[in-house]
Amino acid sequence: MNVPDIIIAVDGYSSTGKSTLAKKIARKFGFLYLDSGALYRGVTLFAQEERLINKLGTVSPELQEALGSLDLHFDPEGRLCMGPRCIEQQIRSMEVSSQVSPVAAVPYVREWVDAKLHEFGRRGRIIMDGRDIGTAVFPDAQLKIFMTASEEVRAQRRYDELVAKGETPLLEEVVQNLRERDYIDSHRQTAPLRRAEDAFELDNSDMSFEEELAWVQGLIQGKFGIL
Ligand code: CDP
Repeated sequence: MNVPDIIIAVDGYSSTGKSTLAKKIARKFGFLYLDSGALYRGVTLFAQEERLINKLGTVSPELQEALGSLDLHFDPEGRLCMGPRCIEQQIRSMEVSSQVSPVAAVPYVREWVDAKLHEFGRRGRIIMDGRDIGTAVFPDAQLKIFMTASEEVRAQRRYDELVAKGETPLLEEVVQNLRERDYIDSHRQTAPLRRAEDAFELDNSDMSFEEELAWVQGLIQGKFGIL
């Protein structure tokens, strides 16, 4: 296994603002940001396009072999690409969100994504967000943050994001999707979503982004002494 020099693991529930925070920290402290959820979303889009998942979210066993030919990578701007295609916009759709958790619960899918994450995070300073980074992917991460927020706040944030991108979801549909994903993600057999014992918990329901950033910067400076 390849172990980066410094890794910060940011895990937590859906739409808690993990990626916004991780991107900001990456820019500020010169870390490479890796979005593990994007890879699960990419595999889901692939399974949908190849018709290897049905409406109920049942994944065909043929996906395992098909993954052998799947090329997912990030471009220099951090957008997910499938071969030559940038799929950043498609993977954020409700269609992908509605099926990503059953796909991410499949053990061989998790192995495939974990191998990619270790390959991308070969060396350097990495900040990675997801559900199992601090518990399964990089259990020795030097700093672990576990993010939560109230369901109401999370649903409104995700709804606003989708509307800003031109989608027209119903708020109720967004709430339902967050609930379903949190349930499946927390109850699956392989690497379920849970707070690592040594993770700092951040509930940002009533925090501004600036407050949240100051809190995390304090942790980073205390831990690594980097300014
Ligand atoms: O943006 P949001 O927090 O809603 O989700 P995401 O980070 O894009 O992740 C999408 C889905 O991928 C999650 O609901 C999980 O089912 C799965 N995932 C996972 O199982 N493990 C990870 N490390 C990251 C994501």
